[in-house]
Amino acid sequence: MDVKLHKLNSSDYRTVASLHCDHINQGFLATLGVPFLTLLYEAIDKDSESVLLVEREDRNVVGFVTGTRGLGRIYKQLLLKPLRLIHALKSCLLSPSKMYKILEVLLISKGSNISSDLPKQELLSIVVNPAYQGGGHAENLFNALCSHFREEGASSFSIVVGSSLDRAHAFYKKMGSIPVKEIQVHKGADSVVYVKDLS
Ligand SMILES: CC(C)(COP(=O)(O)OP(=O)(O)OC[C@H]1O[C@@H](n2cnc3c(N)ncnc32)[C@H](O)[C@@H]1OP(=O)(O)O)[C@@H](O)C(=O)NCCC(=O)NCCS
Repeated sequence: MDVKLHKLNSSDYRTVASLHCDHINQGFLATLGVPFLTLLYEAIDKDSESVLLVEREDRNVVGFVTGTRGLGRIYKQLLLKPLRLIHALKSCLLSPSKMYKILEVLLISKGSNISSDLPKQELLSIVVNPAYQGGGHAENLFNALCSHFREEGASSFSIVVGSSLDRAHAFYKKMGSIPVKEIQVHKGADSVVYVKDLS
């Protein structure tokens, strides 16, 4: 096992994007496809206020976790590469509902009522390949993210979890996270917000 920081290549970004698409597939971001998610995870890895940590088995990425102090900067980085972004999103450009949701995501990331009373630090996503679940990889990733946030001086962080992700809820509770409220990230898509205390 190897938790690696900021030393990922484009093939790693694609693997991470595919893991997200295949296993957080009830969320909206997955509907934007692997090319968009590949760009997004590269932007997260390269952002100084965000982190992408991976777990490997035999050099292959089998799981990852991401965290940030501010999503807005990540989306700004994507907007600074408009041609790559348009290319990655080309399958969505003709879908008004997807474009509307993209705007919703951007507006939420600009700092709205959802985040005002929550810790600035946030776990954005975590996935372990099902073939490796139950093997301690998720705990390693979660604990590595806790250490990263502690080094930044944070005392807690938040996690937004889709209501239907039963195994994720069980995992976060097992790791000591406390559910604090329910929100709707998109109309009709209920989520629970957890806070993990780092003290
Ligand atoms: C969330 C995730 C990273 C956790 O990794 P994991 O290896 O499954 O984690 P663990 O096995 O340590 O813990 C999962 C807990 O879920 C529970 N669980 C196990 N199987 C379950 C099932 N089929 N349904 C519901 N809960 C289950 C158990 O309580 C287990 O804890 P235990 O070790 O005390 O038995 C992983 O399940 C995953 O990638 N899920 C899909 C992506 C996802 O939903 N990510 C979260 C997005 S916010």
